[in-house]
Amino acid sequence: MTDNDRMMNKTIRTLALLAGAALCAACAQHRPSTVGTTPEVEQRVERILAQMTLAEKVGQMNQVSAGGDPSQYAEALRAGQIGSILNEVDPVRINEFQRIAVEESRLGIPLLVGRDVIHGFHTVFPIPLGLAATFDPALVEEGARVAALEATAQGVRWTFSPMLDIARDPRWGRIAEGSGEDTWLDARMGEAMVRGYQGTQWDATSMAACIKHFVGYGAAEGGRDYNSTFLTERELRNVYLPPFEAAVRAGAMTLMTSFNDNDGIPSTANTFTLKQVLRDEWGFDGLVVTDWNSMGEMISHGYGADRKEVARQAIGAGVDMDMMTFGFLSHLEELVQSGAVKESAIDAAVRNILRVKVLLGLFEHPYVDAAAAQAVQYAPEHLAAAQRTAEESVVLLRNEGDLLPLDPARVRTILVTGPMADAPHDQLGTWAFDGQKQHTVTPLAALRERFPGRVVYVPGLGHSREHRARFDDVVAAARRADVVLAFLGEEAILSGEAHSLADLNLQGSQSELLAALKAAGKPVVATVMAGRPLTIERDLPNCGALLYAFHPGTMGGPALTNLIFGDAVPSGKTPVTFLRTVGQVPMYYNHHMTGRPYNGELLLGDIAPEAGQTSLGNTSYYLDYGAYPLFPFGYGLSYTRFAYSDVALDKAVYATDGTLRVSFTLANTGSRDATEVAQVYVRDLVGSLTRPVKELKHFERVALKAGESRRVEVEIPVSELAFFGADGTRKVEPGDFQLWVAGDSASGEPVSFQVQ
Ligand code: NOJ
Repeated sequence: MTDNDRMMNKTIRTLALLAGAALCAACAQHRPSTVGTTPEVEQRVERILAQMTLAEKVGQMNQVSAGGDPSQYAEALRAGQIGSILNEVDPVRINEFQRIAVEESRLGIPLLVGRDVIHGFHTVFPIPLGLAATFDPALVEEGARVAALEATAQGVRWTFSPMLDIARDPRWGRIAEGSGEDTWLDARMGEAMVRGYQGTQWDATSMAACIKHFVGYGAAEGGRDYNSTFLTERELRNVYLPPFEAAVRAGAMTLMTSFNDNDGIPSTANTFTLKQVLRDEWGFDGLVVTDWNSMGEMISHGYGADRKEVARQAIGAGVDMDMMTFGFLSHLEELVQSGAVKESAIDAAVRNILRVKVLLGLFEHPYVDAAAAQAVQYAPEHLAAAQRTAEESVVLLRNEGDLLPLDPARVRTILVTGPMADAPHDQLGTWAFDGQKQHTVTPLAALRERFPGRVVYVPGLGHSREHRARFDDVVAAARRADVVLAFLGEEAILSGEAHSLADLNLQGSQSELLAALKAAGKPVVATVMAGRPLTIERDLPNCGALLYAFHPGTMGGPALTNLIFGDAVPSGKTPVTFLRTVGQVPMYYNHHMTGRPYNGELLLGDIAPEAGQTSLGNTSYYLDYGAYPLFPFGYGLSYTRFAYSDVALDKAVYATDGTLRVSFTLANTGSRDATEVAQVYVRDLVGSLTRPVKELKHFERVALKAGESRRVEVEIPVSELAFFGADGTRKVEPGDFQLWVAGDSASGEPVSFQVQ
């Protein structure tokens, strides 16, 4: 090749690249906005941007923690150095912050006021893992709306929720804050929360959602918070990214980068996820904020030497706003002046920020009516929604001899015991910043109100970690009672951020307390309130019934009372696999098929074991704990029984753009009206990559009267079966599939179909 040829080739490559870039820019412009912006909004944004100095632009990209007196920030606000505050909820102070920004800064740009409103604001709903256990997106949306009504009344217009991190390791304390292990369920919950928070654009009760943490944070090695992850692009695209994409499509206005580094790259500097996937592929035109000092933490990660370098890396990856590193504020101007960062990158970030502020109507209504804010909090309809959600979030894991529901006429004396029976702060769960414990109704309070004079309370243990050798007082009280209601679990502080655990058994002497109660000979109903699926196998034989309540929030007490006494019927299902022992981590239902699957019931459908795989010794399991969890994903009992039959598909062969019409008969064969969460799972038998043994593709809450039976029909677009395959594209791969309809991920008989 001559020098001339080389030169020519280079020119052609450059031209092709330029043409590609121009095309991309063009298609980006013609793509529909993910946050619903309009030409008018964009013109307004441009008008503001045109008036801004570089310093004012950089100021918009700076978020600070308010923490008290607005006057401490007065000077910075006047100088336009702050675009957003977090951690202020007092409406009077928020108004004052806004007043300084709007009336005393040169351009009068209102502040975006953010807060972690994660599972309710004042009225606290169950933790997100409990919300997921409802399998009821409509109810979850309603709860998010309640949170928005309460928070926006006080001036909070941005919540750092929903957390969409897939979590398959219950040691990780933040498993409490998400929807559990399943991608499809997580996506549905995320969309619901986004819709609920954001409500109607321009409305004063619209609160911008922030989908977080982008991305992979839940895969922290060893379940230790903040730890590194090593997710491949395929795993990201098939498991971790889809909930984010769904929430972007649902209109999420903002997104937060995560603390973790994935495969060596901190998320806050990851151009692949933040630019290629989020902006270029999904067309996200909302705001990207860092997590708290996650830009600064890139220095600890050893990815950048100082704040200036990490600020350059973050803006280079497309971060718009810096939460509490002050890296942008301190260094962006000089980085632009030195040519290391283009001013167009700053402009793009500021556009994203201003767009959100305009769409929230903040320019029209920067202030709230502080005097009216109080009346919105804990409104009766908010408490009712929280109670309904708590009822639906509880999972019945055991009910020997149909002990539950209890008949109030048959239990005169009720012993209430256990460290969670009267723990008003702890039943609120993690991230209940604004929930006030004086508004919490504990099980003890609810039971006393319902059964005046019939409740005996002997706590047994003051808190979950207390050790005690003897329980004579509790046992004596149990002997005198007709029934024992034991409320066990873990305090709020044992889950959530930076609260990982290596031991997932009930802490302290709780298991011993339960064993002592069992020995007293009276029926024992255990309720576990926790932020994660604990390993409760050894406790099951010591109770007749067990209700699992992921920290249920303000109205947990009345909800549990209703469930225990049959005024509500459990319908919750496990959003995460319950393990027998912590050593089984990670164990989740939608794992890939190994070459040597356990040869018991785990072998699905008509796939026969290969020669040599029939002996236990050669298959995938633990010598001491076998191959199964304690309870599978999607599991939960009711006070009735449900029977599935005649699962059918409308065709045997589908086109890749077709729709599966699945029908089945669901019968309530018991004597109580109840709701069942019917679940549809699919397996792609042979793929260009090995595929999960089952994947949830649909669920449906079906309410049936006692004795009623119904033919249920659901539709699933074949496109739902697409995955990111060996060729690096996302598509449905033609071939053989199986489908199950069942009450959990480990039940049902497969029906076969093909995609051609
Ligand atoms: C750190 C947490 O990781 C994030 O989820 C939260 O929203 C921010 N802090 C703000 O409080």
